[in-house]
Amino acid sequence: MLRARIIGTGSAVPDKILTNLDLEKIVDTSDEWITSRTGIKERRIASEGEYTSTFATRAAENALAMAGVDPADVDLILVATVTPDFPFPATAFLVQNNIRATKAVAFDISAACSGFLYGISVVEKFIRTGSAKKALVIGAETLTRIVDWTDRNTCCLFGDGAGAVLLEAHEGDDRGILSTHIHSDGSYWELLHQPGVGSRNPACQKTIDEKLTFINMQGNEVFKLAVRAMEEAANEALDTNNLKTGDIDLFIPHQANRRIIDAIGKRLGLSDRQLYVNLERYGNTSSASIPIALDEVCRAGRIKEGDIVLFDAFGGGLTWGSVLVRW
Ligand code: ACO
Repeated sequence: MLRARIIGTGSAVPDKILTNLDLEKIVDTSDEWITSRTGIKERRIASEGEYTSTFATRAAENALAMAGVDPADVDLILVATVTPDFPFPATAFLVQNNIRATKAVAFDISAACSGFLYGISVVEKFIRTGSAKKALVIGAETLTRIVDWTDRNTCCLFGDGAGAVLLEAHEGDDRGILSTHIHSDGSYWELLHQPGVGSRNPACQKTIDEKLTFINMQGNEVFKLAVRAMEEAANEALDTNNLKTGDIDLFIPHQANRRIIDAIGKRLGLSDRQLYVNLERYGNTSSASIPIALDEVCRAGRIKEGDIVLFDAFGGGLTWGSVLVRW
């Protein structure tokens, strides 16, 4: 049976760091509030001349270098993002051009913080059916470009960056992606959205004056739904593969809020050793958060062959899902 296996990981974040103490000077907030309510201490901010494709490209190059694969051999590039360089063309085309992946087909998907897991789920099907042999899945965002820096409820939460994996078709053993589980509920779309610019609120003075280009979020509601949905998605992956929480070697959740992650860890009965958290350094990078974390653990040698790794995410849409991997 053909399986998709992760053979390379990469990530890229801006050099510029914005700490909670820096934020104290911009809005009415405090390091104490942000740390205790979210776990975030600092986040990376794109500088002028840096875009989503900048980080997506570097993350893809790093994943290809780790695997020792020539970009010309990549069949498919999928970028998950809600902050593309342009409405069109898709950011994936810019990455394709930058890395010279001349034969790859490229497209973007939009599933907010679950985007990377949606991307893995889609690309895995291409690989299992033999339609692609090597594929890049990239989660990339410059969320700080759609944040209202006068709104303390949201501006402390988000950061920029990208993470990528290179997937390859393998046959013969049970290493690779074991199962993917993605879900959507459009009835909650208003809880977390960017009202403009789009066909509903096109680019015009009114859209800018009413601050419609910024992230709009009902944080409390999102929090409750996130905990429930991520717990369900994690259990779905375990049940599908006849595994128990104790079988998980590493659990990499979407990095939105330390309290969400701790609540899920508690509900699932995970130990600190199983949980990977890095949001104190990056904030919520939406679709990029899981692949950035994965790249960190891979490069730190924290995953070994045969390990069971579970990814779990939740985001605007609403979207949620999980992916289970035998490394
Ligand atoms: N600094 C100081 N005070 C603040 C700040 C801040 N940065 N932000 C909010 N407050 C105040 C509020 O104004 C409010 O004051 P009030 O009681 O006088 O009105 C008080 O703190 C409590 O506000 P809540 O919104 O109830 O705070 P809560 O504990 O729920 O934390 C947060 C807010 C962090 C947004 C939380 O709800 C959360 O994390 N929700 C999940 C949503 C999320 O993570 N979204 C990210 C994208 S979605 C995703 O990735 C899944």
